[in-house]
Amino acid sequence: MFELPSLTYGYDSLKGFVGAELMGFHHDKHHQTYVDKLNAVIELNPELKNRSVEDLLAHINELPESAQTGISNHGGGHYNHSLFWQSISPNGGGQPTGDLLNLIINKHGSYQNFVDEFTSKALAVFGSGWVWLQPNGDIITTANQDTPIAQGLDAPLLCLDVWEHAYYLDYKNKRDDYVRAWWNVVDWENAANRYQAFLGK
Ligand SMILES: [Fe+2]
Repeated sequence: MFELPSLTYGYDSLKGFVGAELMGFHHDKHHQTYVDKLNAVIELNPELKNRSVEDLLAHINELPESAQTGISNHGGGHYNHSLFWQSISPNGGGQPTGDLLNLIINKHGSYQNFVDEFTSKALAVFGSGWVWLQPNGDIITTANQDTPIAQGLDAPLLCLDVWEHAYYLDYKNKRDDYVRAWWNVVDWENAANRYQAFLGK
């Protein structure tokens, strides 16, 4: 059975980004619901037991047709949120360093250009979705709970949730303020570790 991952920080520790009530709802209600509904899909398809969510999503088209939508929505919701919690930290913010900074500069010209491009893509997502930094430096977006690994892409380094449930309680309709504040909590260390793993270092 899939389980809601514990956070390594408190709900009240990201106050410059989002408050404790929003964090609590987002993690303990929204993410938990994806986990519960994913488990319900697995219960109906016991042959899928003991496979990781990454494995299920990466082979979504090979799964029983009746399970594909449920795995895509709820497995995607579980995978995406699990990475999102790792993408932020009370000790986050600042800029990446080393190989990851080089990747970003090579692809986007400068760190500030990268921030501007990522931000404008986050604001351009129509409705619910996600913004991702891929290990080739691309910034991509997905709708709903779609996830890059289900599209045959490599595991992302970093993601930003732009569903309204991620910000509405604190920011109402101001997604731009939410995205601006996100840069103050981005966990570049985690993204760098994922990049090193991608590089095989
Ligand atoms: Fe979310």
